[in-house]
Amino acid sequence: MSARGLGKCLNVEDFRRAARRRLPAPLYHYIDGGADDETTLARNTAAFDAVGLIPSALTDVEALDLSTSVLGQTIAWPVFLSPTGMSRLFHHDGERAVARAAADADTMYTLSTLSTVSIEEIGSLTTGPKCFQIYIHKDRGLTHEFVARCKTSGYAALCLTVDTLVAGNRERDLVTGMVMPPRPTPSALWSFATHLNWSFNYLLREKFELANVAQSVSAGTQSLVSVIDYINQQFDRSITWHDAERLIADWGGPFAIKGVLSVEDAIRARDVGASAVMVSNHGGRQLDGAAAPFDQLGDIVDAVGDDIEVILDGGVRRGTHVLKALAMGATACMIGRGYLYALAAYGQPGVARALSRLRDEVERDLVLMGRSTPAGLSRDALRSFHR
Ligand SMILES: Cc1cc2nc3c(=O)[nH]c(=O)nc-3n(C[C@H](O)[C@H](O)[C@H](O)COP(=O)(O)O)c2cc1C
Repeated sequence: MSARGLGKCLNVEDFRRAARRRLPAPLYHYIDGGADDETTLARNTAAFDAVGLIPSALTDVEALDLSTSVLGQTIAWPVFLSPTGMSRLFHHDGERAVARAAADADTMYTLSTLSTVSIEEIGSLTTGPKCFQIYIHKDRGLTHEFVARCKTSGYAALCLTVDTLVAGNRERDLVTGMVMPPRPTPSALWSFATHLNWSFNYLLREKFELANVAQSVSAGTQSLVSVIDYINQQFDRSITWHDAERLIADWGGPFAIKGVLSVEDAIRARDVGASAVMVSNHGGRQLDGAAAPFDQLGDIVDAVGDDIEVILDGGVRRGTHVLKALAMGATACMIGRGYLYALAAYGQPGVARALSRLRDEVERDLVLMGRSTPAGLSRDALRSFHR
């Protein structure tokens, strides 16, 4: 898809529709889908509707400051980018486009273990703050390698994803024929043939590879047919809090546990030395029926919010969602699909516009709330519809 139409994309839903038009079905549904019946996926966003915002009047909001400190970095507004694997599948500029757009938008980018551009290349690509997301593989040497590589590549923080010991049951992928690397399977053939722009870019440009693990696990991945196979064969299910503690000590800098949903786990995370928890259910892609991050946020903030940062990840589609999370006590929010749809539809200019539109929403809504800083929001600004 050319840049034509980009100016008409005003919000995440518009970018979602544009991504659907540009991508072959297996790729679109890989981004868009969730596990089982997708109840958690739907709840992640719907949860924000359980509270209403209560603005304050006549408060002088002339001097606005949206900057936020998170994981040792100051970002210009309280939203940063979640890790999403294999971005090159969605657009040939992949992680490079997203990292550049994040840096231009003065916010932090989180690179996935399963990225298609290496830790080192993304590290040197921009001066913007970067976090690296770790999946612990059965080959434990890889984890130590990741830490060492992030140290020499200037990453500001690490996060350990703990909700993906086994792949979620993403049935859309089975229906559409989402295999890895993508191939025109019988169920996907028509879709590839009718999305020639994507297909040519995929075939003629840089080869797809999992850049951070290519050396170590390529032999074992030759026979894989799906992301699900990769996760199920390579990820280590025996990891415990002791492993998290060792990893935190090994890194020695800002560290988040991503995929925390319970108060108990947030307390464990704090006690093993994490500087943040990312309250998340992997965007509804793992355990369907899992509670929504926003539903869990208040209890987690009450338990550990004075000691560590509590970051909300999942379901954010609007500036008001961000404000509700901040008012509940979150330090910041993360977005995944909110930038991926834009990447898929328009590459870097798409991500830039998606981030800029969301930032404008956060800013405008903060003014409408009568607050001049994110810290000015507290639970007084929320009305629960269920009390
Ligand atoms: C296509 C896709 C790939 C993802 N890959 C990863 C990943 O490699 N590592 C990870 O920790 N989370 C991954 N996630 C989850 C995101 O980091 C994040 O938790 C989720 O997208 C948040 O929900 P949202 O999409 O509603 O913002 C992925 C999500 C999507 C949609």
